[in-house]
Amino acid sequence: MHNLVEYQQRINDFLAEQLNKLANKNTINDEKLLAAMKYGLLIGGKRMRPYLVYITGETLGVAHNTLDAIAGALECIHAYSLLHDDLPAMDDDNLRRGKPTCHIEFDEATAILAGDSLQTLAFDILANQAMDNVSAKTRLKLIQQLSHASGYQGMCGGQALDLSATNKNISLQQLEALHQLKTGALLKACVLMTAQCGAKITTQDIENFTLYAQNIGLAYQVRDDIIDITSSEQELGKPTGSDLAANKSTYPALLGLQGAQQKADQLYQQALQALANLPYNTQKLADFATFIINRKS
Ligand code: IPE
Ligand code: IPE
Ligand code: MG
Ligand code: MG
Ligand code: MG
Repeated sequence: MHNLVEYQQRINDFLAEQLNKLANKNTINDEKLLAAMKYGLLIGGKRMRPYLVYITGETLGVAHNTLDAIAGALECIHAYSLLHDDLPAMDDDNLRRGKPTCHIEFDEATAILAGDSLQTLAFDILANQAMDNVSAKTRLKLIQQLSHASGYQGMCGGQALDLSATNKNISLQQLEALHQLKTGALLKACVLMTAQCGAKITTQDIENFTLYAQNIGLAYQVRDDIIDITSSEQELGKPTGSDLAANKSTYPALLGLQGAQQKADQLYQQALQALANLPYNTQKLADFATFIINRKS
């Protein structure tokens, strides 16, 4: 595949098929729950995590059905995290991907359950999808990696730190740890889950992929915090100024807008350095890093 649109189309088709299969399997369906899952998973979204999986995997020659499964599982976790992140108990936002958030469109209980069901679907995909050239041992490792990246030691742990850092001053070091978990962990998993399926991957390659992934993972949230201030609601498809209004701990809040962008640029340079040490054509991964630190939505 060549461009972002082709990858987006591929993952959208894969995800739609996963939800359609669910509907076919059950004799008794709760249609509202499935509709909310479709709403949270299939409507909009830049599909950056799947894109990162595909470009990492193509760099290493990983089979496309393996990439579909890894990308699909990660996007299910991401979609679930957004449904829960928008709830009144968390960020209490009413717009996502240009539409009312799931709990506004449906109701809170349904948004919670849709998030829960998307989370378990992620592991179902990793356990059951065909993945060429992936041993049972590697499949188990993928499940373990996704579970660590999304749970207490990853995304959920980061979301908890984010909530406890609201209305509080925290140090830069604490902010970095928080960002690495709530957003960095899943982006890092996109690269590392995929990289370990590469047939000729070495320990040194994994070290450099890890460095690349850590830097872009953090940069992704730094840029998200910047565009919360600088972009328009129309560009973002979610409310602007919502971090400021909620008194969240963010890079712009601690360093100012310019300081935050400098931080993103520094992370970008470190990501490129890590790529330069890899013996592959990593142009698409470098372009992805460029995109991240300049994105406006
Ligand atoms: C938003 O993620 C939440 C963060 C972790 C920064 P994205 O900016 O990737 O959101 P979508 O999937 O494109 O809507
Ligand atoms: C979200 O961070 C991180 C996760 C959902 C894990 P934000 O709260 O900044 O994301 P947006 O801005 O609502 O998309
Ligand atoms: Mg949040
Ligand atoms: Mg939020
Ligand atoms: Mg944000």
